[in-house]
Amino acid sequence: MINLSPLPPSEVTDGVQEYFTLADKAYRNWTQAPKGYTAPYALHSGYHPDGNEIDQFESVTLMTKKIISLLDIDPKASTAILENGCGVGSISYQIATAYPNSLVIGTNITPSQASTANKYRVSSGLSNLWYILGDYNQPCFPDNSFNIVIFCESLCHSTDQAKSIQGAYRVLKKGGKLFVADVVLNDLPLTTDEAKHLDNMHRGWFISEFRTLDEFRAMLQATCFGVPLLSLDITRQTFPSARRMGENSAKRLQEEQTVPPVITESRKSCVALHELMKAGKLKYFWHLLEK
Ligand SMILES: C[S@@+](CC[C@H](N)C(=O)[O-])C[C@H]1O[C@@H](n2cnc3c(N)ncnc32)[C@H](O)[C@@H]1O
Repeated sequence: MINLSPLPPSEVTDGVQEYFTLADKAYRNWTQAPKGYTAPYALHSGYHPDGNEIDQFESVTLMTKKIISLLDIDPKASTAILENGCGVGSISYQIATAYPNSLVIGTNITPSQASTANKYRVSSGLSNLWYILGDYNQPCFPDNSFNIVIFCESLCHSTDQAKSIQGAYRVLKKGGKLFVADVVLNDLPLTTDEAKHLDNMHRGWFISEFRTLDEFRAMLQATCFGVPLLSLDITRQTFPSARRMGENSAKRLQEEQTVPPVITESRKSCVALHELMKAGKLKYFWHLLEK
């Protein structure tokens, strides 16, 4: 594991909150939702079939759909679902809409996003959807409460990923499923330039721990999860999103604009993600595990 955390956990938390608050406009633009779209915008990558770049809104919507179909939710059952690090709630909202018998809770440590998510919930009138302000490292739920726990591009911000996974394990029912979407390190060692990119991702996106696929799986299994039901490499399908983010951010970094330092640092992270994926040093994976 490469642990890049010289920052104490409280500074990571402050940094995450500041970044996701100040980057709100960028994320609203990211989904490129058509006029009149009333659901929450997504903060995650797009899914581009066979790696062929498709329309931005379609790609982001497709990613949400693919994740939901992987969860294999029974429409007749009352499935309890927890989304950890839910952004402004897009995945939770889509699940609650498509599965009225489910109960969906999204948690987020960033107050401004939790409040935006709640506005979407109120205007939707959905009665099976709740958003909670809270740290997924201190889940406030009883043991064995959920059938499904989701981390979509959110576990990476944890100051202690093993602890986050243990928390998810505790609140899952026996037979419940854990879904994680995130990047893993590949093809080590890194060159000096690549290590600099990784450090930029640490500074801009507050990612402290980077693991290889084997290390990541070992961490999951150390928490008593068995062999993954699924470990799917979708680097090819997400790469066009990384390229789009990286190229846009590289342009913005050339412009003489006065933006908060946290935004400048996050743009360096976008460039870094693109460069590291292009070099094959970061891979994007879906993991599905059963308790
Ligand atoms: C890249 S966004 C992904 C959002 C959402 N899952 C999606 O796919 O649209 C990461 C989210 O994780 C949240 N987050 C980071 N650390 C967290 C923590 N310790 N507890 C709860 N939420 C956290 C951030 O505030 C942010 O909303």
